[in-house]
Amino acid sequence: MITLKSEREIAGMRRSGALLAQTHLGLRKVIKPGISGMDIENFADHFITSHGGTPSEKGFEGYQYATCVCVNDEVAHAEPRKDIILKAGDIVSVDMTIELDGYQSDSCWTYAVGEISPERQHLMEVTKKALYLGIDQAQVGNRLGDIGYAIQHYTEDQEKMGDVRDLIGHGIQPTMHEAPNVPHYGEPGKGLRLKEGMTITIEPMITLGTWEIKSKWTPDEWEYFVTADGTDAAQYEHTIAITKDGPKILTSQDPIADQKYL
Ligand code: MF3
Ligand code: CO
Ligand code: CO
Repeated sequence: MITLKSEREIAGMRRSGALLAQTHLGLRKVIKPGISGMDIENFADHFITSHGGTPSEKGFEGYQYATCVCVNDEVAHAEPRKDIILKAGDIVSVDMTIELDGYQSDSCWTYAVGEISPERQHLMEVTKKALYLGIDQAQVGNRLGDIGYAIQHYTEDQEKMGDVRDLIGHGIQPTMHEAPNVPHYGEPGKGLRLKEGMTITIEPMITLGTWEIKSKWTPDEWEYFVTADGTDAAQYEHTIAITKDGPKILTSQDPIADQKYL
């Protein structure tokens, strides 16, 4: 069932999203060559809880961490590890969902570790632009296929990159994952019609090669995903509200760049 949120609920999600955005802004200063995945986890967990939030990924289907930390060819759901030391040239995606006063927000961001190659820089730029092209379609009266098509057409037809199909965005609030599913591929004019008050995530995972991913398992049988061909992947995710004044980004990190979505 899709629940439509009131202005009051969206305001609550906006407060949650602001704390999540602050956590990401803090990570910008933490992420540098020589730190481990666990350093990212520890910073985020402490930052969220010390500001009154709860990391919603902890305890979700047995997951034990506040963050998912994906390096280079890792696509999603990788655990933060203390034996993975980031080096200059890596890219690292940090995905977090938090709850604040009963309100959820979910946002992933890809970071460059030190100086990175122009290819990886381009991958990050394309992935972020794909997210915003998707957000631009999240208008009352449009359909889910309009969001998916905008992302797929740009990343695959224009940029010749891989647009991961097997993991998708989702409704959010009151829990982390709600209806509807929000695929990052599709056909314009197809799929569910978007209504005022829907709150969803858009979270494209884009690769330098194929859209196909494969599973890996940790020793404690947690499943995570890497690109099938070993190429690099990036991911950007925002939580957004669909309103009569257009899509509103609830997890914005940049009031100037996001001006028209606030
Ligand atoms: N934040 C992720 C999402 O975008 C969910 C990760 S689930 C976890 O949907 F258990 F792996 F943390
Ligand atoms: Co997420
Ligand atoms: Co999500």
